[in-house]
Amino acid sequence: MQVASILGDPDVMKFSDHGAFTSKQQMDWFQRALAVRTDDLLSGPFAIAQKSTGEVVGYINLSNEPKRNEQGDAEIGFRLSRHAWSNGYATEAVSGLLRKTDDIPSISRIVAMVDPNNKRSIRVLEKLGMSRVGEVMFDSYDHPDALYALKLRVS
Ligand SMILES: CC(C)(COP(=O)(O)OP(=O)(O)OC[C@H]1O[C@@H](n2cnc3c(N)ncnc32)[C@H](O)[C@@H]1OP(=O)(O)O)[C@@H](O)C(=O)NCCC(=O)NCCS
Repeated sequence: MQVASILGDPDVMKFSDHGAFTSKQQMDWFQRALAVRTDDLLSGPFAIAQKSTGEVVGYINLSNEPKRNEQGDAEIGFRLSRHAWSNGYATEAVSGLLRKTDDIPSISRIVAMVDPNNKRSIRVLEKLGMSRVGEVMFDSYDHPDALYALKLRVS
């Protein structure tokens, strides 16, 4: 994967609170990504690859960080290289990953935090059946994100 075409692209990172990553930040991110355990969905990121070519065009991440997320929540995140947008890849990748959460009883809700102006990402979340349930504000933010959620099971 060309990490720079994702994390280094200001268009892709437009709605990220830290903007495009420097080369050093991209390298650090990639080193952490290499530590993914394929048997642990919450240890992502996982690559999104085009079936026809095998080209890796993005990544998807599912995580639970106590500082950001409630117990039982898994936060979804996804980014694609600009050239891969508008093919339905994000929606297909996320729904594939969500099917696998059936095997993890500790996850009762999928959440996503998204800039309210990020209409493309919001559309993906809506297509996945997620609804806006509130907003979140962290120290590093200059405005709140919208909180989207999908209940999987009663915890
Ligand atoms: C968000 C992102 C992953 C979406 O990828 P994608 O492959 O284009 O998504 P999909 O093709 O599955 O769906 C995009 C949907 O948004 C719609 N859309 C595109 N531009 C839009 C706009 N300006 N306003 C509203 N909807 C829009 C598309 O029509 C499509 O919906 P449809 O299938 O009903 O027609 C990609 O744009 C990206 O990497 N963005 C930068 C990183 C990011 O914002 N990540 C999410 C952080 S929460």
